Amino acid sequence: MPGDDVTAAVDQVLEPSRHRTFIKSIVGGGAAAVEELVGRKVVVGGWVKTGREQGKGTFAFLELNDGSCLANLQVIVDAEVYPLSQLVATGTCVLVEGVLKKPPEGTKQRVELKVEQVLEVGPVDPSKYPLPKTRLTLEFLRDFVHFRARTNTISAVERIRDELAYATHTFFRQNGFRYVHTPIITTSDCEGAGEMFQVTALFSDAEKVEKELKQNPPPSESEIEAAKLHIKEKGEAVAHLKSSKATKEEISASVSELTKAKESLAKLEERFNMKPGIPQKDGTIDYARDFFGRQAFLTVSGQLQVETYACALGNVYTFGPTFRAEHSHTSRHLAEFWMVEPEIAFANLEDDMNYAENYVKFLCRWLLDHCHDDMEFMAKNFDKTAIDRLKLVSSTPFERISYTMAVQLLENVTDKKFENKVEWGMDLASEHERYLTEVIFKKPVIVYNYPKGIKAFYMRLNDDKKTVAAMDVLVPKVGELIGGSQREERLEVLVDRILEAGLTLEPYEWYLDLRRYGTVKHSGFGLGFERMVLFATGLDNIRDVIPFPRYPGRADL
Ligand code: 4AD
Ligand code: MG
Repeated sequence: MPGDDVTAAVDQVLEPSRHRTFIKSIVGGGAAAVEELVGRKVVVGGWVKTGREQGKGTFAFLELNDGSCLANLQVIVDAEVYPLSQLVATGTCVLVEGVLKKPPEGTKQRVELKVEQVLEVGPVDPSKYPLPKTRLTLEFLRDFVHFRARTNTISAVERIRDELAYATHTFFRQNGFRYVHTPIITTSDCEGAGEMFQVTALFSDAEKVEKELKQNPPPSESEIEAAKLHIKEKGEAVAHLKSSKATKEEISASVSELTKAKESLAKLEERFNMKPGIPQKDGTIDYARDFFGRQAFLTVSGQLQVETYACALGNVYTFGPTFRAEHSHTSRHLAEFWMVEPEIAFANLEDDMNYAENYVKFLCRWLLDHCHDDMEFMAKNFDKTAIDRLKLVSSTPFERISYTMAVQLLENVTDKKFENKVEWGMDLASEHERYLTEVIFKKPVIVYNYPKGIKAFYMRLNDDKKTVAAMDVLVPKVGELIGGSQREERLEVLVDRILEAGLTLEPYEWYLDLRRYGTVKHSGFGLGFERMVLFATGLDNIRDVIPFPRYPGRADL
């Protein structure tokens, strides 16, 4: 039957699936685990870190890494098995099958792989590969974001980052929170700071129109006039047929010609009215003609939207990318960063601080329990105190001081001259935050009750009418890690605060509705995920702890 041939042909093109063993499961166990592995046949795939031909070209050692862990697997290939020169270049990808062996006494490996078959090779021309050397600066690697995950440092950072993400979901699940996906595209400015990237189709639409008009020039006025005349003639023809009592068929044929003439005029007029450039109305850009029918932006925070779910599901959190068009070229700021934002119904500022502290402690504990090798690597190569810092933070209560107290402490500092003047009412600069946490307290500090003038409109106004129920968690090495607050749940106060902040009420009407109908005391915070990775790894620049950093002037890939 013809159907059988078809099935047979499909069967032939499917390659059989092959079980690949992760290097972590080979080198990650103790001595006893290795004993068990010896003699086993496995398939291993990875990228060559270093390769060298030995014994006058009779065999080669390959240090193979597959990203499952920091450690490499030593792989031995004989010249009879495969041309060695095609395997030894750094960066070469190989999939090999072989038998696990115990290396000779005195070598540092506990287990090695003797290759029986080279299954696949992704070759590298060493004279062209951009990362042939093993020791490269992080700054240099930023020019090769598509390759840098092949380095020990960036792959270790990524594994730590992944563990922190998993730990985040674990912590919130254990505490009864639901994960809510808030929108990336938004029409409200959460922080009211005007640092939003705009999302618009007006430019690409305008370009399309321009291109179209160039290729296919619009009709002239006389062509439009001719089309109008044509309709008039067709109309007259219909009238004539009707008055001369023509047949039904004749009349309907003539009506259909009239309809066609009208349609072609409509098309001509549409093209005649096509205008190049951005649509304007009353001297400003006409956003009603933009994709969403209004101005839209990339979100700076999912907080406002996640509040709607907190006011229904109770304990919720969002964890996603956020975007800020700040022109800060610092080692602590990105234009695109990830934020973890829990929102807790029936919670006051103290509950908020408790959750924040428990969450950060949980993350630190998690890394100590799950990321031993990668953390050791970071401590050895970048920051000797990285592991001790995790231990300290996971076990010591955070200091909690009011903003007013923080300012007093900073005013009394004599051993350091701050660049920014210390006085009540100022925003704490990074140098102040780090002095508090690194020098004065030597542990995480939560500063609360900030002046209302320097904080966002949604934060709950305190009885003194001067401060709001805000809190920032400051940690050594990084400064501000978390920003949060109790939210203003009183309608009239919130309305005043929005207007006071110079914002208009219209975009926030839905947010005000949450206070109009079934308002609830609630609190939340945002943890800058990259700041947490910085804090954990001890690296100096936030651009190295996110896979694809975006900052002024750079958005590679
Ligand atoms: O303090 P922020 O601006 O707070 C909010 O956005 C609130 N809506 C959060 C909430 O209550 N749900 O930002 C929160 C944290 C900061 O503490 C900082 O760690 C990080 O986000 N952050 C940045 N990280 C990297 N690059 C930037 N440009 C950042 N801006 C803020
Ligand atoms: Mg903040």
